[in-house]
Amino acid sequence: MAVVTILGAGAMGAALTTPALAAGNAVRLWGTWLDDGILAALRAGQPHPRIDVPIDRTAVLFDSGDLAAALDGAELVILAISSDGVVEVLRRAAPHLRAGLPLLITTKGFGYDPDGKVGLLPPLLRAVLPGELADGCPIVAIGGPCKANEVAVGRPTAAVFGCADVGVAERAADLLGTAVYRLATTDDVDGIEASAAMKNVYAIALGIADGLAETGGEPWHNLKAATFAQAATEMQRLATALGGRAETAVGLAGVGDLEVTGLSGRNKVYGARIGRGEPATAALDEMVAAGQTVEGVAAARFAAELADQRALDSLPLLGAITEVLAGAEEPAARITAAVLPARR
Ligand SMILES: NC(=O)c1ccc[n+]([C@@H]2O[C@H](COP(=O)([O-])OP(=O)(O)OC[C@H]3O[C@@H](n4cnc5c(N)ncnc54)[C@H](O)[C@@H]3O)[C@@H](O)[C@H]2O)c1
Repeated sequence: MAVVTILGAGAMGAALTTPALAAGNAVRLWGTWLDDGILAALRAGQPHPRIDVPIDRTAVLFDSGDLAAALDGAELVILAISSDGVVEVLRRAAPHLRAGLPLLITTKGFGYDPDGKVGLLPPLLRAVLPGELADGCPIVAIGGPCKANEVAVGRPTAAVFGCADVGVAERAADLLGTAVYRLATTDDVDGIEASAAMKNVYAIALGIADGLAETGGEPWHNLKAATFAQAATEMQRLATALGGRAETAVGLAGVGDLEVTGLSGRNKVYGARIGRGEPATAALDEMVAAGQTVEGVAAARFAAELADQRALDSLPLLGAITEVLAGAEEPAARITAAVLPARR
């Protein structure tokens, strides 16, 4: 049992209170300055507004101004913040962290390093910590097919914890794992992070096939499956280019998460809107205006830039998605050309 502080009271942060409590920990849930409405709903005994699931009242809620108190005495910290806010939240948390405290991250995405190069999140997060914490707080990447609403109600879920020091990942897994939230461990942090970021991108393409089916009333399963296979190939290429292992990209954190992300969620929904014929930019604007972050859009831009910076080729599906997001005509034809074998 440990004191577990979860930073971010969105869907995933709140969902993780369920296994963390079930495993016998003292759990704190801190809401960012964007989460006031969520905390108000939870305090009023209402279900979590994002996942429509009640959150166990034994999780202690902390407002954004109470970050120091939320982190006081914490033995495990989970960052469940969207990619565009995670650096800022960690920067604010840093004065209240101590060396040796494991930092678990559910966040999926890329960012820029100080030289303007696209990179994975763990080194970028380490860069905002002062020296003794940058070296002293092990980062544990969380990957795998985990829909927040299912984790929150205790449905069987397989996740993978990755840390350069696999012993840290194992101890974190021992503290948070339950009979239904089962955890594998690995030292392949880069493989998890690359796969996790990219599956959001490729889920947009899977959604496009769904949108075509919704419009025409006939399935496009073959195109969707070919897209899935090409996505798996490209995720392996990107994971290895970023220092990870191909096997991670075809495991829970890669194809496992791609499957669940392609079934539901904001990236798939966005792709479906494009597949139904909505202009990519207008559909995105509407979703953003409704407070729905589509992380795969930013990740696609980062990944295209990364491929450019590192002269990676053989990523035709990434190329097609990038074009579609930029407003290219005939999205279905672009995806099709990228995933069907070249020979007739
Ligand atoms: N929902 C899932 O099923 C799921 C599963 C696994 C991993 N994840 C990942 O976990 C992360 C959080 O996802 P979520 O579903 O909880 O999202 P969410 O939108 O429900 O919550 C996002 C959290 O990040 C904070 N946030 C967003 N933008 C911010 C900003 N600009 N500055 C500071 N804070 C900001 C919000 O306040 C909130 O606490 C994402 O990277 C997501 O990919 C989600």
